[in-house]
Amino acid sequence: MSTPTTGLRVCRGIGEFRAALADRLGAAPEPASLGLVPTMGALHEGHGHLVRLARQENTVVAVSVFVNPLQFGPDEDLDRYPRTLAADVELLARCGADLVFAPPVEEMYPDGEPLVRVTAGRLGSVLDGASRPGHFDGALTVVNKLLNITAPPTPSAFRAYFGEKDAQQLLLVRRMVADFDLPVTVRGVPIVRDDDGLALSSRNRYLDTAQRRAALVLPRTLRALAAGELDLDAARERVDAEDGVRLDYLVVVDPRTLVPVEPAAGALALVAARVGGTRLIDNLVL
Ligand code: PAJ
Repeated sequence: MSTPTTGLRVCRGIGEFRAALADRLGAAPEPASLGLVPTMGALHEGHGHLVRLARQENTVVAVSVFVNPLQFGPDEDLDRYPRTLAADVELLARCGADLVFAPPVEEMYPDGEPLVRVTAGRLGSVLDGASRPGHFDGALTVVNKLLNITAPPTPSAFRAYFGEKDAQQLLLVRRMVADFDLPVTVRGVPIVRDDDGLALSSRNRYLDTAQRRAALVLPRTLRALAAGELDLDAARERVDAEDGVRLDYLVVVDPRTLVPVEPAAGALALVAARVGGTRLIDNLVL
């Protein structure tokens, strides 16, 4: 049976997705290139931005939508993480994606949790990795799987898109690709923010009106730090003083090593905080 080679197609199985990829790459103009945007769904314009960039740069664009249990801790929001596939598919159609890979958990982990995993190492155990033990091992393991599942069958260019919003994740994905010689080019994409400055996040939908207002302390404090209006201690105090906000960390680091440095041009300021029950992260290059 022939399958359509245009229009957005949603695949549930790995075999079905690989066959659809091969069809689309075969039908695409030469030189064929494939862009993959891994996501956990609950898509917003931040994700949309990654997909549009992938659309500009590739002849075929695939987006994975998979809430990966491996990267959630036992007390985290795996069960309540928003699952909005119908709306996600609409957004992806508007952004010009060709294929959506939305596997059930059993397709990705047929024997339960995988025995062999990627370990993120030293860079995965600081900052978000310190607050969320095992998180980056789980995220890198699924990204490794998604890259292997998607890797094009013909010698086409292969690019994968990740947001700078998750700066530590982006750094670790780059390291994994380098350390494992994965045949993919990693593309980092700048943070997309709402008009009020809050970085778009699937978790923003947990915030009520007051919490959303309080969350603005994160981008505001990063900007004040970048402008030299606050030193690091004052910036930490400012976040912690906001009603309903509990600072996890606010640091200035070398973006390649995550080692703390004095605030200076080119350094990366990273913040994580709880706003009510919702954990938010943000960052800004100084
Ligand atoms: P998720 O949180 O859905 O994010 C998918 C991608 O979108 C990530 O690369 C993230 O950095 C990017 N993104 C999210 N919000 C953004 C924003 N406001 N601006 C720019 N990019 C943004 O990150 C994950 O899923 C998962 O860990 C995943 C990589 C899919 C592995 O499960």
